[in-house]
Amino acid sequence: MKIYLIGMPGSGKSTLGKPLASELGIPFVDQDKEIEDREGKTVKEIFASLGEDHFRQTEAQVLREWAGSEKSFVMATGGGSPCFYNGIEIIRQSGLSIFIDVSVAELLKRVGANKDRPLLHANDLKEKEERLAGLYEKRLPIYQQAHVILHHPTLKSLLEVIQ
Ligand code: S3P
Repeated sequence: MKIYLIGMPGSGKSTLGKPLASELGIPFVDQDKEIEDREGKTVKEIFASLGEDHFRQTEAQVLREWAGSEKSFVMATGGGSPCFYNGIEIIRQSGLSIFIDVSVAELLKRVGANKDRPLLHANDLKEKEERLAGLYEKRLPIYQQAHVILHHPTLKSLLEVIQ
């Protein structure tokens, strides 16, 4: 069984993925961590020294390898993973995809102060909100191709059931 959690940075993919994996008795995989281990650099460092294209290629490679494996897992994908190199197709065809849909206002509350996400780099909160909103709008049609869509309150109740 392969389960992919997809959605914007800060949507709670790891928060849901960890207890879900443990409940199902299968490994939890953090796609960003897989990329970092492979490159020996943090995501932030990869963006800064090798560029986004390189990051996206490695991201796609990691996704294809896990998708093509015989393994069962719950994967918290990187926010952009479904949106590059046919990611959503690879995800949909190899397992169950779950989109965690969280409003831009809520995302901003969660990632507002975080400086580790290169795509959300901004001088102030207003600019960060604009970046988030732009990304969300562009990605929504892709995320919505997931098999299941969870909204914020549903996610909360699901977490209560799992934990
Ligand atoms: C990205 C999201 C990040 C990470 C990278 C790019 C994106 O992962 O892969 O900074 O394009 O949305 P999270 O969604 O886990 O923050």
